[in-house]
Amino acid sequence: MSGDFTIGIHDLSFATTQFVLTHATLAAYNGTPVGKYHAGIGQRSMSVPAADEDVVTMAAAAVAPIVSRHGSDLIRTIVFATETSIDQARAAGIPVHSLLGLPSATRIVELKQACYGATAALQFAIGLVRRDRSQQVLVIASDVSKYDLDTPGEATQGAAAVAMLVSADPALVRIEDPSGVFTADIMDFWRPNYRATALVDGKESVSAYLQAVEGAWKDYAEQGGRRLDEFSAFCYHQPFTKMAYKAHRHLLQYCGSNIDEGEITRVIGQTTAYNTVIGNSYTASMYLGLAALLDNADDLSHQAIGFLSYGSGSVAEFFAGTVVPGYRSHLRRAAHHEVIVRRQEIDYAKYRELHEQSLPVDGGDYRVPRETTGPYRLAALSGHKRIYEPR
Ligand code: HMG
Repeated sequence: MSGDFTIGIHDLSFATTQFVLTHATLAAYNGTPVGKYHAGIGQRSMSVPAADEDVVTMAAAAVAPIVSRHGSDLIRTIVFATETSIDQARAAGIPVHSLLGLPSATRIVELKQACYGATAALQFAIGLVRRDRSQQVLVIASDVSKYDLDTPGEATQGAAAVAMLVSADPALVRIEDPSGVFTADIMDFWRPNYRATALVDGKESVSAYLQAVEGAWKDYAEQGGRRLDEFSAFCYHQPFTKMAYKAHRHLLQYCGSNIDEGEITRVIGQTTAYNTVIGNSYTASMYLGLAALLDNADDLSHQAIGFLSYGSGSVAEFFAGTVVPGYRSHLRRAAHHEVIVRRQEIDYAKYRELHEQSLPVDGGDYRVPRETTGPYRLAALSGHKRIYEPR
């Protein structure tokens, strides 16, 4: 390992949607044994956006507590990672910046590479802070995972936004060099511009993910990274929580290590608490894993965490972070618990109605039904523009 390990995640906050559909409800509708969802893929429920929620409203809700704790004077860059883009030209970070009244002296950009995008954003943020240690960068990961109804992917939907403040001398996690990186040209999952739902070859996507785990780890080891046994926990991208277990088992096999299921549960189990009830939130998923780990594990001060970020298509990165002593007094455990339990459970009919709904594309004036009780909402469309407001 080499380099400056004094830059990393200073604060982390997440938000999710107004509604939640349980896998028990989905199973009762489609006749799937519920054990397939609960035990087979490791999912209990999934967040479903209200008509007036999207990646911008979730992102603004995730960012607001960070701005209220730290102010915005040092934030000069916002990097918004998403694969649920609302505009082909304009960055979704701009309406977030506006809703929060952030200073005009800010650069904003949107990044995309499937679920991997937020890790690229984090690495770019670290580079910017390394250039000027007095600046902070706001990294936002916000996505809605949506597949066609009555497909195998449907049980792996979800939605959330994670906001992270990246700075020098962070309060939560220092991010280390090196990174191990990997790219392969694979069409395992994709969403052409004209589609609202993703297309996926489920089995191919699982094996592409495992291939990427190997590739990113191999590069990480070649770059002089830590040994596997130095890590106390591993945050994997979690399209469904059982994928993290599969991935870690695969990594152990690849490294010629013992497959001890108890040990795998020890290093993975606490990263899954939020994803199992929120579902796949694409770019935000791995960082929800980190939030769950920090919020719920015993003291992790000084311990190393491994991160495996995967984005279909495919790009992956393995990197390490060290937990900063004293981090527990900077967590948002109660607020995170609240955003999960405040969701309103919906029945299958309401879920289907929301799934099938799409916003008009005629450019006329349209008031979006008032549904969310979150802090920000998509209020209207007018002249092909989205109009947001505090609720
Ligand atoms: P499927 O065909 O519905 O399910 O597809 P299955 O038959 O493979 O069963 C799933 C597991 O449940 C199996 O366990 C079964 O044995 C078990 P495994 O063999 O995997 O250990 N099972 C049961 N367990 C208990 N009781 C039962 C029972 N029945 C079966 N009664 C699949 C599952 C995940 C493929 C599907 O949901 C899908 O296509 N999802 C979308 C794609 C996806 O999530 N891929 C993951 C890797 S790609 C990725 O992570 C990137 C992504 O996030 C996008 C991005 O990067 O932007 C997706």
